[in-house]
Amino acid sequence: MGLEKLKTILKNPISGNCLELRTPIIGASGTYGYESEFEDFIDLNCLGAVSTKGITLEKRPGNSGERLFEVQNGLINRIGLENIGINRFIAEKLPILESKNIDFLLNIAGSTEKDYETLALIANENKIKALEVNVSCPNVKQGCLEFGLNPEGLFKLIKLIRKNYEGFLIVKLSPNTTDIKPLASAVEKAGADCISAINTVRGLGVKINYNSNKFIKKCVSGGLSGGCIKPIALYMASEIKRVAKIPLIAIGGIATLEDLFEFIYVGADAFQIGSANFVNPSICSKLAQELNQFMIENNFSGFEELKKAIKE
Ligand SMILES: Cc1cc2nc3c(=O)[nH]c(=O)nc-3n(C[C@H](O)[C@H](O)[C@H](O)COP(=O)(O)O)c2cc1C
Repeated sequence: MGLEKLKTILKNPISGNCLELRTPIIGASGTYGYESEFEDFIDLNCLGAVSTKGITLEKRPGNSGERLFEVQNGLINRIGLENIGINRFIAEKLPILESKNIDFLLNIAGSTEKDYETLALIANENKIKALEVNVSCPNVKQGCLEFGLNPEGLFKLIKLIRKNYEGFLIVKLSPNTTDIKPLASAVEKAGADCISAINTVRGLGVKINYNSNKFIKKCVSGGLSGGCIKPIALYMASEIKRVAKIPLIAIGGIATLEDLFEFIYVGADAFQIGSANFVNPSICSKLAQELNQFMIENNFSGFEELKKAIKE
């Protein structure tokens, strides 16, 4: 089925910078691997892009022990940014992505400003079209989220990245704050082209198995994702849109066509699908096809027209 109606252009109205996506459906970082892992399950043409697993300067083994904990309608993870590091990504994964024509956002994370600056430079040198800066991972001891919760620090960091990277710059925000608006304003003022939100919500999974007076306990503290965080993601999206003019990629508990409509209503221009991939690995192509079918049946000529109708 042709998906021409789903073509999406994310445009920064301030700088004019654009990112063209085949569809507004993007595989979320950490749930899609590095590149073509999902090829067997989905038609990659249905995807606007894949956001790579978070890449750091040096490779990271991630956290030891239990990393995933299922909760009601959600998942807690404490992967701790396990990844192969930027040099191996560029040498081994980038050629595959390019040869297969898979559009991607390079998701990066760092412990220091210098880390982010170097990663931005490497991305620029390698002509990577879009960068998603993760300043919102709750599962690492140093950096990352520390930058993402302080508007002044975030402004400085994004300005530094902007200076070193010419492509489409997306900043991924954290919901672990009382007010997301100053963070959204800071990244827009610093020159970001787009905001993606939300990363996971801090949570604690507790399980107690009991056998009369014996209690066997398991506790996993990490980032909560999936259907249970959707209301938080909707709220954060609507707050971001109160202050930011740059486009918004909505993330958080998205799994159905109705979810897409709800996020459009609060201001989303595109979507990332995370935990739902673990339930149904072909969810992204299913959503793209359902959205396309809906637009055909209801005579919408393009995604912009649909967005306008939902927001009216
Ligand atoms: C197992 C797992 C690993 C993740 N790793 C990353 C990561 O490396 N970088 C990042 O920016 N977000 C990461 N995330 C967060 C997701 O990209 C997404 O923001 C979050 O899960 C909310 O979306 P969802 O409710 O659709 O899962 C990870 C999430 C999960 C579940």
